[in-house]
Amino acid sequence: MSAPALRKILVTNALPYANGPLHLGHMVGYIQADIWVRFQRMCGNDVTYVCADDAHGTPIMLAAEKAGVAPETFIAGMQASHAADFAAFGVAFDHYHSTHSDENRRLSESIYSKLKAGGYIASRSIEQAYDPVKEMFLPDRYIKGECPKCGTKDQYGDNCESCGATYGPTDLKNPFSVVSGATPVLKESEHYFFQLTKLQQEVEQWLEAANVHASVKAKLAEWLDSGLKDWDISRDAPYFGFEIPGAPGKYFYVWLDAPIGYFASLSALLGNDAEKLAAFIGPNSTAELWHFIGKDIINFHGLFWPAMLKGAGHRQPTGLSVNGYLTVNGAKMSKSRGTFIKARTFLDAGLNPEYLRYYFATKLIEGPIDIDLDLKGFEDTINSHLVGKYVNIASRCARLLHEHFGGRLSDSLGKASPSIVVRATPQGDLDVIRECLETGNLSGLVRHAMFIADECNETLHAYAPWTRLKNPDERLPNSESHQNLSAAINAFRLISIYLKPVLPKLVSDVEAFLGVTPFVWNDADTPLVAHNINVY
Ligand code: 2FM
Ligand code: ZN
Repeated sequence: MSAPALRKILVTNALPYANGPLHLGHMVGYIQADIWVRFQRMCGNDVTYVCADDAHGTPIMLAAEKAGVAPETFIAGMQASHAADFAAFGVAFDHYHSTHSDENRRLSESIYSKLKAGGYIASRSIEQAYDPVKEMFLPDRYIKGECPKCGTKDQYGDNCESCGATYGPTDLKNPFSVVSGATPVLKESEHYFFQLTKLQQEVEQWLEAANVHASVKAKLAEWLDSGLKDWDISRDAPYFGFEIPGAPGKYFYVWLDAPIGYFASLSALLGNDAEKLAAFIGPNSTAELWHFIGKDIINFHGLFWPAMLKGAGHRQPTGLSVNGYLTVNGAKMSKSRGTFIKARTFLDAGLNPEYLRYYFATKLIEGPIDIDLDLKGFEDTINSHLVGKYVNIASRCARLLHEHFGGRLSDSLGKASPSIVVRATPQGDLDVIRECLETGNLSGLVRHAMFIADECNETLHAYAPWTRLKNPDERLPNSESHQNLSAAINAFRLISIYLKPVLPKLVSDVEAFLGVTPFVWNDADTPLVAHNINVY
C-alpha cells in the first residue's frame, strides 16, 4: 500500500491593521490557525503559513500624522510590534510581511489590470462627504453630528447610541468632520468599481464546493440571493496606499490590496520565484488555500475575494475558517472597565502565553462562536487541567521511576493494570481526536485529553505504586509497579502528542524530558518502552 499523498497547504490569518497594538481578541483567530498548522505538520503535510500587516487606508494615514511621523515609519513600528507579539504567543508564521511592499504593489497592479482587461472594472462619478478644511473625502466614520431623531449630540452617521435609530451620514443634523471639525460638503469625484455582478454565478459555484461552516455559508448565500452589487475599489488622494495605474490621484481601497497581501507575503517567502508562487496561486494549483478570519469580514473573503481571484484568473480558496469575538468576564472588552487587554499587557504580567492558547482551546468548537475569557475560570482551568491532571502524572511517576528503576521504562506494558494500559495507547479514538483537530473542535480535543488524564490519575491513585514499592519484589525491573508507572508515563506521552499543537513549548519540554525526537502524529500508535527518560 502506498502512503496517502501529502497535502500541500497555504494557510493565512487575517492581516491586522497597522494602526494599533494587538489585543487578546485578535489572538483567538491566530492561535486557532497556528494550532491547525502545527497539527497538519505533525501529520506530515506540507504547510506554508503566512501573514502580514494591513498597512493602508485613512485611519493609518491619520494615525501616523497624529504621531507626527511618516506613514512608512509608523507602519514599520507597528509591524515589528505585531510580529513580536505573535512570536511570543507561539504563532509561528513562516513569513510576516506588509501590504505596503513591492510584492503587494506588483500583485495588486497585476490583479487589477487582469480585472480591467476582463471587463470587470467600470468608472463613474459619485458624490461624497468632503472636508473642505482638511481637503479630503471623509469615510462615514469620520463624520459625526446630532441624531436626526432624538437630537443626541456626537453620534456617528450610522446609528444613534441613545435612541437606537439607524440612518445615513447625510441624515445627521449639524454634521462635522472628526478630522478638522469643519462642516462637510458634498463633492463629486470619479470612482472605480469592481463589477461583482458579472461574477455572481462564479462566486455561487465556488461557495457550493468550498469548505465553509454551514452557518457562514448560509450568511453568504443570503447575500448572494439578494444579488451582488458593484464594489467601489478606489479612494481619492490624500490616501495611504497604492496609486491606481493610469489613474493619477486615485488609490486602491485598502480592502482591494489587503487580501492580495496574503499572496505578497507568500511571494516574499518564496524569494519572488514566479514558478513556486504559481504552484500556490495559479489557476491550476493543486495546493489547498485556507483563510482563517474573524466573522466580521466574511463578506470580503466569501464574496469579493473569490470573485477577484476568479476574474483575474487565479485559483480560489479551498476553505474559510471563521472565528467569533472574545468577551472578557462576559462583556465586550472595554478600556474604562479595565477589561481591554492588550497582548503585550498579558505578556508583561508574566502570564504564560501557552496558558491562553490552552484556555482558548477549551472553548473553541467548530464554527464561528464567541468565546469568553473569564479571568477566574482561566486560572482555575489552568490549575486544574494542566497542573493538577496532566503534569501531575509525569511528576509523580518520573520521581519513582528514577528512584527505583534508574529512569528506565519497562520492557513491555503487559503486566500493567488494563485500566492504565487502556489510557496509554489509543483506543480506536485516534480518528475522533484527529477529526477534532481537523475541524477546529478544540474543546473536544481537550476533553479527550483530560479524560485520559483523569482515568490515569484515578487508576494510579487506586494502585498506589508508592506503597507497593515498599515490597522489594516490586522494585525489580519489569515488576507490576514498574510497568504501571511506565504505562502512566505513556498515557502522559499520549496526552502530550494530542496537545502538542496547542502547547508547543510545553510539549517540547516534554520531548526533552522523555528523551525523544519531536512527536509526529503517528507516534501515538507505538508506546514508549525500554527507554530511558530524564529527570522531571
Ligand atoms: O478587519 C481587519 O482587521 C482587516 N485588516 C483584515 C484584512 S484581512 C485580509 F484580507 F487582508
Ligand atoms: Zn437618537
